[in-house]
Amino acid sequence: MNETSRQLEYINKAKMILGDKGLKYFIKTFGCQMNEKQSETLAGVLEEIGYTEAENEKEADFVLYNTCTVRESAELKVYGRLGHLKSMKKNKPNLIIALCGCMTQREITIEEIKKNQKHVDIVFGNFNIHKLPELIIARMESDEQIIDIWKEHGEIVEDLPSHRKYDFKSCVNIMYGCNNFCTYCIVPYVRGRERSRKPEDIVKEIESLVSEGVVEVMLLGQNVNSYGRGLEEETTFAELLRMINEVEGLERIRFMTSHPKDISEELIYAIRDCDKVCNQLHLPVQAGNNKVLKEMNRNYTREKYLETIKKAKEEIKDLYISTDMIIGFPGETEEEFEDTIKLVEEVEYNGAFTFIFSVRTGTKAANMENQISDEVKSDRFNRLKEVLDKVVYKKAKEMVGKETRVLVEQASKSDDATVHGRTDSNYLVHFKGDKSLIGKVVSVKIKEAKPYYLIGEKI
Ligand code: SAM
Ligand code: SF4
Ligand code: F3S
Repeated sequence: MNETSRQLEYINKAKMILGDKGLKYFIKTFGCQMNEKQSETLAGVLEEIGYTEAENEKEADFVLYNTCTVRESAELKVYGRLGHLKSMKKNKPNLIIALCGCMTQREITIEEIKKNQKHVDIVFGNFNIHKLPELIIARMESDEQIIDIWKEHGEIVEDLPSHRKYDFKSCVNIMYGCNNFCTYCIVPYVRGRERSRKPEDIVKEIESLVSEGVVEVMLLGQNVNSYGRGLEEETTFAELLRMINEVEGLERIRFMTSHPKDISEELIYAIRDCDKVCNQLHLPVQAGNNKVLKEMNRNYTREKYLETIKKAKEEIKDLYISTDMIIGFPGETEEEFEDTIKLVEEVEYNGAFTFIFSVRTGTKAANMENQISDEVKSDRFNRLKEVLDKVVYKKAKEMVGKETRVLVEQASKSDDATVHGRTDSNYLVHFKGDKSLIGKVVSVKIKEAKPYYLIGEKI
């Protein structure tokens, strides 16, 4: 019996025990799209067992936190919420509390849970999320905290039920893990080594999603440019994009994240040539200074990065470029920080995520000398933000007057007659329209640019 069938048996067992009790679940997801995607599977499993989705935590009988550990702030949020759950459980002793995701892969978290978070019932990790049904049964049969963490991947378990958040778009994992060990980053320690899924499995999943109404996919990997290494038949990411571009009925392909050290001309040409691949490139630079980049172990220089950007802009029409940046890496001097500011002005990003360096125990950067004070970090963060806001707004204003395609995602919360969605290039656009447009790709003319979104008119 394979692992999926084994877990389906546990689902049936749990279904029989819990019956029609009208139990509800609540999942809170922290962190990146990988976690969002995992949570859809976890929700699918809970629904198969018989739970229905609760509107909020208070009415739930099963609360699951899918956690993130990339920065300390993400962890503090989880501990804060666990504190609230503790008092909730006093009035609702049958409440089941479960924890999974990247925090649980760390020894330090498990120690804390065993010692101070005894109200948490089930803890599992990134490499055994498929075991949720089995662990629920184990919890039913015992009064002990159930903690089951694997150190590495076992077989990749697929085909478990999933409850997708959107009918019309979906994330698709093309690879798991990371081999890069950037010195500040905890991800390789909690997501394991890099492993690519077979192209045929990915295409099959996308075909099945399209048959269910999905028109946009977001391909996920920590470094999609190294996709295919180690597969029996090596396939490059550019080749994979070309294969997916052939899937009939699919309208848009996005992907993240592209690591600058591995980006190839072949990939830039694939983005240019494939009509379904969006004119969008998320290329995290992290810092604009070569000494800092070296200490971060990023394996590219500022010059190489700028060359890639130049090539990509030349080849891909109306390219939307975004990035991630870290401020206050250990030893970063004022001049080195200013190199990051200059790079922002040179690239003219369309969007950016900026982060203050957060010490992650176990990483190389955590033990580096010359940690930067919180005061300096937050001053640099604000200055960078100011420059970025200007650049991003300037680029957004260049969109005014253009005709674009928008995939409508939602009706506005405050106004039923307004909807919003994303352009091919990834701009958020609000325009007059009704709910029937949700999930459809429509032509929109951009009328005005606001700092964080565009206003358009349907044509
Ligand atoms: N694999 C992606 C890449 O290399 O571009 C990044 C994935 S990581 C989940 C997302 C972002 O978090 C990184 O690009 C980096 O900017 C930020 N990050 C990672 N570790 C951090 C740390 N210790 N402190 C602050 N930001 C961090
Ligand atoms: Fe972290 Fe670097 Fe891997 Fe991205 S490539 S997940 S930043 S170690
Ligand atoms: Fe994602 Fe956070 Fe894990 S960013 S990979 S959920 S540490």
